[in-house]
Amino acid sequence: MRRKLAAGNWKMNGTGAALSELEALAKGHPAPAVDILICPPATLLNRAAQALSGASIAVGGQDCHADASGAHTGDISAGMLKDAGATAVILGHSERREDHGERNEDVRAKARAAMDAGLTAVICVGESLAQREAANTLDIIGGQLSGSIPDQSTGENLVVAYEPIWAIGTGKVPTLEQIGEVHDFIRARLERRFGAGVGRSVRLLYGGSVKPDNAAGIFGVPNVDGALVGGASLKAADFAPIIAALE
Ligand code: G3P
Repeated sequence: MRRKLAAGNWKMNGTGAALSELEALAKGHPAPAVDILICPPATLLNRAAQALSGASIAVGGQDCHADASGAHTGDISAGMLKDAGATAVILGHSERREDHGERNEDVRAKARAAMDAGLTAVICVGESLAQREAANTLDIIGGQLSGSIPDQSTGENLVVAYEPIWAIGTGKVPTLEQIGEVHDFIRARLERRFGAGVGRSVRLLYGGSVKPDNAAGIFGVPNVDGALVGGASLKAADFAPIIAALE
């Protein structure tokens, strides 16, 4: 059985004052029935891990470099994330693919580094509106999956997040049928590549305008094992009902 996962991506939001939201979240979820992961900006990672020590909430990074160390000004390695208290890292988010020109092979190299460091790689895939309207969604997702996911995925060290780009931060959400179609496709591709055992153990998250009022419907879709939440993960009061819908 795959354990459900509610993951929050704070993106470039939050300073020290935001740690109180984590404390509130931990207080409200002393023994959650699902896994909870918060990915704050790198500047808050270690403080977030300390604020949550003793709580059942994990912290993760939002990106890492493919190398373990070296002359890469401004970058952070997977080992550094781990050292700061992370157990996972988001990779290949569409904002990084767009803002930093990350290609599938870059994401794959980063994921390899993350897995080598003992982190879970949360690999994001998703189509643009133009690609969906051209009926290319599954082709795009298929290419992102085969290009971005490294061979050493064991199931436990991999999470795949389906985030249609046009649904991120827009309030637009695909229909439940559209979400189901893509998640079933991702599951089938993982089973074909890694075998049924590994393929069925990878958790698949939906991301893109998940809110307290639409979460329950989305979580009812087969092969949706949780969510990767942006804006609604910043406040404990918004994220808590999403977690509750998953429990
Ligand atoms: O990674 C999560 C994200 O891209 C979704 O953002 O704000 O639409 O929930 P949001």
